[in-house]
Amino acid sequence: MATALITGATSGIGREIAWQLAAERMNLILVARSADRLEEVAEHIGQVADVEVEVLPADLSQAEGTLRVCERLIDDERPVGLLVNNAGFGLGQDFVGGDIERELNALNVMVRAVLMTCHAAIPGMVARGGGGILNIASMAALTAQGTYSAHKAWVRTFTEGLAASLKGTGVNATVVCPGLVHTEFHEKVDVDPGQWPESAFIPAERVAAEAIEGVRRGKVVVTPSRRYRALAGALKVAPRSLVRAVAGPERSGRRG
Ligand SMILES: NC(=O)c1ccc[n+]([C@@H]2O[C@H](COP(=O)([O-])OP(=O)(O)OC[C@H]3O[C@@H](n4cnc5c(N)ncnc54)[C@H](OP(=O)(O)O)[C@@H]3O)[C@@H](O)[C@H]2O)c1
Repeated sequence: MATALITGATSGIGREIAWQLAAERMNLILVARSADRLEEVAEHIGQVADVEVEVLPADLSQAEGTLRVCERLIDDERPVGLLVNNAGFGLGQDFVGGDIERELNALNVMVRAVLMTCHAAIPGMVARGGGGILNIASMAALTAQGTYSAHKAWVRTFTEGLAASLKGTGVNATVVCPGLVHTEFHEKVDVDPGQWPESAFIPAERVAAEAIEGVRRGKVVVTPSRRYRALAGALKVAPRSLVRAVAGPERSGRRG
């Protein structure tokens, strides 16, 4: 049975991806900071699905945490067939005047850890002649909403580059660009999700299902829901001056 390693697997999109992969009988390695929550999710999945679930508590904002995940990924005796880079969070602050440690942590989790885990996982996958990378970016990759947009744009471009360089190896790289999803993401940065119409939200179950289907079909860019695919199409052709006009601190959605 193949094994998937999923970062940010204790809530939201990552936890949903874990459940859906378990339903497809993949063994799992779950990564996040909270060991208690990891154990809880692992126990629950293990009770329902007939798969092995390993937990790997690690803080991906810290070099040591990311290295431990990389060590697990290069272990050829227990190969990982699918790497899901999902861990991430909103900055919850403006860049100008914001806390630089928070900026660096966000960069480490959403860029550095993605780069390092892919670098660790891919050679083994190529040597085995198969495998998959599933990176979670965001619709924000196409906007200009602070460093979060910049990090997600990096994830998107990086994954497209990987897909191009992995052609013919049997290893696929897929990037998912969800719009708004009800998870713990917004409440953690004091953003009221009630400010957007309910119809703007896509269920995490659907994001996970379209992501996994995208991996199965070898798709490079997956944008869940027809509505967000249309928005992505519009953003790609819109003048960047217009994209910038609807960005900035006052559009962050934060309370206060
Ligand atoms: N929700 C949305 O509207 C939305 C839209 C587009 C894209 N996304 C992206 O989707 C991904 C998942 O977000 P979500 O909405 O599911 O948010 P979430 O419910 O807050 O889940 C975030 C996950 O990341 C983990 N995490 C956070 N910081 C970490 C760190 N330093 N080290 C290791 N794990 C860490 C969290 O666990 P611990 O706190 O225990 O570490 C948790 O498991 C993110 O990359 C996000 O940018 C979300």
